[in-house]
Formats: sequence, structure tokens, C-alpha cells
Amino acid sequence: MRIVIIGATGHIGTWLVPRLIRKGHEVVAVSRGVRDPYQRFPEWDSAEHVVIDRQRSEQDGSFGKRIADLHGEAVIDLICFERESAAHLVDALHGRVEHFIHCGTLWVHGIPQSCPYDETAAREPFGDYGIRKAEIERFLLDESSREFPATILHPGHITGPGWDPINPIGNLDRQVFDQLASGAIVVLPDDGLARLQHVHADDVASAFELAIEQPDKSIGESFHVAAREPVTLLSYAETVASWSGRKAKLAFLPWDEWTKTKSERDAEITLDHVMHSPCASIAKAERILGFNPRYTAVEAVRDALSYTM
Ligand SMILES: NC(=O)c1ccc[n+]([C@@H]2O[C@H](COP(=O)([O-])OP(=O)(O)OC[C@H]3O[C@@H](n4cnc5c(N)ncnc54)[C@H](OP(=O)(O)O)[C@@H]3O)[C@@H](O)[C@H]2O)c1
Repeated sequence: MRIVIIGATGHIGTWLVPRLIRKGHEVVAVSRGVRDPYQRFPEWDSAEHVVIDRQRSEQDGSFGKRIADLHGEAVIDLICFERESAAHLVDALHGRVEHFIHCGTLWVHGIPQSCPYDETAAREPFGDYGIRKAEIERFLLDESSREFPATILHPGHITGPGWDPINPIGNLDRQVFDQLASGAIVVLPDDGLARLQHVHADDVASAFELAIEQPDKSIGESFHVAAREPVTLLSYAETVASWSGRKAKLAFLPWDEWTKTKSERDAEITLDHVMHSPCASIAKAERILGFNPRYTAVEAVRDALSYTM
């Protein structure tokens, strides 16, 4: 197949482009050409690179046509954050593609009502990002009932070699890993039982590959794409400390006090993660697509850290 990937050189594309090329597909990697993939696997040399700035091109109305003119049989959209952007692309691609895959997020569910929850669980997102992603999902599923061949994949916290993973206090402060490794006290918010659900970027890429290979099973469907089980902040911190042969030294503070000990940005990122406290079932992707993530949530983190530490 000829497959166009919009936003191809980021966390997911770094792994997805080589996977698809290994399978013999022709891959057109669309980006602004600002950044390189996180790892330059040799297969990247076989990808066709097309430079388009989506925002600019949407502003002058040319984006959909430019993507359609790349003549992909399938289009994978990794960087759509507005319903209008999705609608613009659907207009241009209707009747011209065999498969369209959108990258969503587990955040479409908002605050979990159960653990685990599957893809039929309510969409009660909060925050602009989750609300807009849920609107896009609703729009694409509606379009798929009008013969537009859409699939939506919802990843957890995408984790891999080359960028900082979400840490055991739910933000990106790299020092927390060092503190756990050196036996320093780490303070968790509340009871430390909020959940995180990382997923290795290569496992996310594998789900896109499986969806592309099985359009009959994936079109018109949404799938959670995450590690099989979430981890609590507490168990995650204990595991990280154990990698250095230590028992984690943990303390706990109620949220209102905890937040005063952090920068505004760190506290904001943690709040977003602990409120979402994901617990997504991946049973549907396992059963229908054969999704089989290689990494647990903490193994994905360990792989990310082993590369950059
Ligand atoms: N990060 C997470 O933990 C997480 C979790 C759940 C879902 N998601 C979803 O994952 C998707 C993002 O995938 P990712 O994490 O692989 O992306 P990413 O690492 O943020 O990379 C973004 C890609 O898009 C390109 N890009 C950025 N702005 C562009 C523009 N204006 N025009 C054209 N290309 C542009 C970048 O290359 P250039 O800069 O060179 O253009 C790069 O190839 C989003 O839909 C997000 O909602 C992410």
C-alpha cells in the first residue's frame, strides 16, 4: 500500500514508518521537516519525505488537497487536534482513500467511572485537549457510518527512547528518577494510588500497523492502545527504586499541600495525570486486531530511561 503519515517524525512515527516499510509498504512521511525522528532506523532512508506545514496549509485551505494529491491508499493522521481540521481532511479524502486512521487519546474518557473501562465507556472529557479529541472521534465515527473508512486509536502515555517519560509523581521532572535511585525521599500526592498507563511507542506503532493490515476489522471502530495494566504512582515509584536495589522512601501529602512544593507547571502536569488516572482495557484491540504489547507500563519507562541516562 501507499501510506501517507501526517506528523511522521515524532514519537509514534519514529517506530511506525520503519515498521510499515519493513512490511513492503510505500510510506510518505509528512512533516514540516523541523525535527528528525527520535531514532533514525535504516528503513527511514526508504521513506518519501514531504514538507507541509499543516497549520499554514489549513489557513489557506490547501491542506486537504495537498494530502489527497499524495495519492495514499491509506492516510494516518497523527496530529489532528480540532474537529474542523478533521472535517477539512475528510472532505478532501472522501472517496479517495481506502483507510483513514486518526490518533486519539485515552483522555477522551475524562475521569474514569470504572476500572477497567472499555471503548464503550462514557466520553466525559475535561480540558480542551480531551474535549476536542472526543469531538473528532465522534465526528469520524459518524463519517464512517457515511462510508468514510475511519479508525481511531487511543494511546496511553507514549513512552520510549529519546524523550522523558511521565515519572512516578505524574509529571516530567527527571530528578524524581534520580531521587528514587539514590534513596532520597519522594513525596507522592494524596495516597499515591492515582494511576498512570504508559505505552511504548513501538507498541503504539504496532497497533497502527495491525489496524492498517485489517481494515475489515478496524474501520468504524475505536481501540484503546496502552500497556495491559496501569500502575499506581506508589507501585511505579517502588519499581523504579528496585531497579537500583533499593526500597523506595516515600512520603505522602494531601494535594493542596503537595502542590505548594512544586512549580506551577509540574503541578499542572501532575494534576492532569492524576485526574485522568487511566485504567483502560485493551481487550478489544487484543481480541479484534491481535494487539500484543511487548512492554508493561514500567518496562516502557525503563526502556526510555536506559537510552538517555
Ligand atoms: N504524547 C503522548 O503521551 C500522547 C498520548 C496519547 C495520545 N497522543 C497523541 O499522539 C499524537 C502525536 O503523536 P506523536 O506523539 O508521535 O507526535 P510528536 O512526537 O508530537 O511529533 C509531531 C510530528 O508532527 C510534525 N508536526 C508538528 N507540527 C506540524 C505541522 N504544523 N505541520 C506538519 N507537521 C507537523 C512533527 O515534525 P516537525 O516538527 O518537523 O513538523 C512530528 O513529525 C497526537 O494526536 C496526540 O494527541 C499523544
